[in-house]
Amino acid sequence: MKRIGMLTSGGDCQALNAAMRGVVKGLSNNVDELEVYGFYDGYKGLIYGKYRLLTAADFSGILTKGGTILGSSRQPFKLMRVPDENGLDKVEAMKQTYYKLNLDCLVILGGNGTQKTANLLREEGLNIIHLPKTIDNDIYGTDVTFGFQSAINIAAEAIDCIHTTAASHNRVFIVEVMGHKVGWLTLYAGIAAGADIILLPEIPYDIDKVTEAIQKRTNAGKGFTILAVAEGAISKEDAQLTKKEYKKKLEKSPYPSVSYEVAERIREKTGTEVRVAVPGHTQRGGSPCPYDRVLCSRLGAAAAQAILEEDYGYMIAMINNKTTRVPLGDVAGKLKTVEPDSQIIKEAKTMGISFGD
Ligand code: F6P
Repeated sequence: MKRIGMLTSGGDCQALNAAMRGVVKGLSNNVDELEVYGFYDGYKGLIYGKYRLLTAADFSGILTKGGTILGSSRQPFKLMRVPDENGLDKVEAMKQTYYKLNLDCLVILGGNGTQKTANLLREEGLNIIHLPKTIDNDIYGTDVTFGFQSAINIAAEAIDCIHTTAASHNRVFIVEVMGHKVGWLTLYAGIAAGADIILLPEIPYDIDKVTEAIQKRTNAGKGFTILAVAEGAISKEDAQLTKKEYKKKLEKSPYPSVSYEVAERIREKTGTEVRVAVPGHTQRGGSPCPYDRVLCSRLGAAAAQAILEEDYGYMIAMINNKTTRVPLGDVAGKLKTVEPDSQIIKEAKTMGISFGD
């Protein structure tokens, strides 16, 4: 008999359901009796005791379904130790729910912030398994997160579509790609869709270098230029500011996002009209791509294996195409960023892609 709890926390992505299905299939095939409690809306469900005993029917037909059947919410880690508006101690409340249900383990699907809370619960004595979810691919200790490949497909398709219209009108176009503080999604989607200039948070850009790259294309007879710009891209000047100063600058900015500022600066310098396209949350939506379905089936089965062995306290990672148990305490709170001098950046530069540096 196994009794597990499950929750999905933070921004959603395409393969959350596929991952939960993988865990449940892996367990139900190997134990006589299985009870799965699904907590609604991430940690909220665990804190406030909002859950439901899930049945086999809940996991049927969800491999290809985007979003999460459990719902999700953002519960910032920094507020976990702060009592809620009614004075409730959230960490104690989560522990009480866990013990009340007599769970063997809690399976937590989420990104960086979620992982930090998962590790906190582990430190508090709960049996935890974490599965690395995010379109941002910024979780330290795994080669890849689920949602990333599906999001690359969508962002790349958006850039492909912009390519044809940009070419028809001889325009400079910016496609703004999600990714919070890291540039993985922009880098991969940009390369996949043949972007000419890629701006990432990890490589602060010099606007003169950006306009030079546009001019170089014009000189070569190319009438249009495509820029893939990460939502967290930053200029060389802004990178000199303190975090606080930069936050203030963004709050006061007349632009809805950094892409519009880049567009305006290009227009000022070159007189060229620049259009901005923002695919936004479409990048997190829809059905998971086959790669993510396989990834989540493997991660889910590996999580089930760890639960069967009662080996807890891990993120189930994919390293060198092998599912691997990585101690949560070793990775929680760390971010996986794009290295500016990594092979992929050098190769992209070899192909003539400009990073504005
Ligand atoms: O972490 C996933 C992500 O989509 C980031 O790429 C993005 O910065 C953020 O979530 C957007 O968050 P929200 O859905 O709360 O607007």
